[in-house]
Amino acid sequence: MKGIILAGGRGMRLHPITRGVSKQLLPVYDKPMIFHPVTTLMLAGIRDILIICMPDSLDAYRRLLGDGKDWGMNFDYAVQPEAKGLAEAYIIGANYVGDEPSALALGDNMFYGAGLRGDLERAGQHTTGAQVFAFQVQNPSEFGIVEIDASNRAISIEEKPQKPRSNWAVTGLYFYDSDVVEIARSVKPSARGELEITSVNEAYLKAGRLQVNKLARGTAWLDAGTFDGLIQASQFVQTIEKRQGHKVACPEEVAWRCGFIDNAQLERLADGYRNEYGAYLRGVLGMPSD
Ligand code: DAU
Repeated sequence: MKGIILAGGRGMRLHPITRGVSKQLLPVYDKPMIFHPVTTLMLAGIRDILIICMPDSLDAYRRLLGDGKDWGMNFDYAVQPEAKGLAEAYIIGANYVGDEPSALALGDNMFYGAGLRGDLERAGQHTTGAQVFAFQVQNPSEFGIVEIDASNRAISIEEKPQKPRSNWAVTGLYFYDSDVVEIARSVKPSARGELEITSVNEAYLKAGRLQVNKLARGTAWLDAGTFDGLIQASQFVQTIEKRQGHKVACPEEVAWRCGFIDNAQLERLADGYRNEYGAYLRGVLGMPSD
């Protein structure tokens, strides 16, 4: 399975912060935001990831993530010159995905919670239709919203509805079979002028091929797209890390726990840091594996 991370957009809601730097490179406490979607896809067992960003931030992403080999991963890069919508990821990434199933993760979505790894592993084995993850929210007009019947079947899906039919928001993590490229190519721009991922999901829904997984209420789903969202996400990560002594979204650790790298490689990565982050990685080697 291939992965795509969308790390483009102008981050307008975070101006002036994002005038000079891509939003998904901003720190969320002790790591760049993009480490969150990277580790989410890694936990789903995905080792090939295409990172899509604005042309002016390509060098910065390459500097940060490289070719991925250090983490047992393969990273490729592509640019999206204008924020034309999330579904454009599959037009830009058509050749990359080829005829494989794939997952799309939005660069500013963060997931954390018990049981999530199992959900991600199951989704990562998925090869037919589409799978999305839904989470209950208090402000449904700000998200893609899915209406679900008593047996968990999706009945309708709408992007930022004025009159929401439910409070189940579709989160920024999508799993698709190989039909997604053709479907994305057939999507027409919405009223706000974007190729909506919700239109792709609606096509799967109409074909009876959209599966919705409800995220348990013990799961945290955060997005760091606003000033308050950014600091809240940092404080959340800091609180968990200080309290438990485990880092959230640490790619070196995830790579080691997933068996993508061995002890010697984790030690080499730890040696590359001269700070508490490196000490943590060295400590991981002595922790019981979970
Ligand atoms: O966060 C989940 C929500 O994400 C879903 O519930 C919605 O259905 C989905 O449309 C999306 O809504 P947003 O309005 O939050 O998307 P936004 O425009 O903020 O873009 C999400 C991320 O994707 C953000 O990090 C910027 C990046 N992006 C966005 C667009 C439109 C791109 O890289 N390229 C783009 O063309």
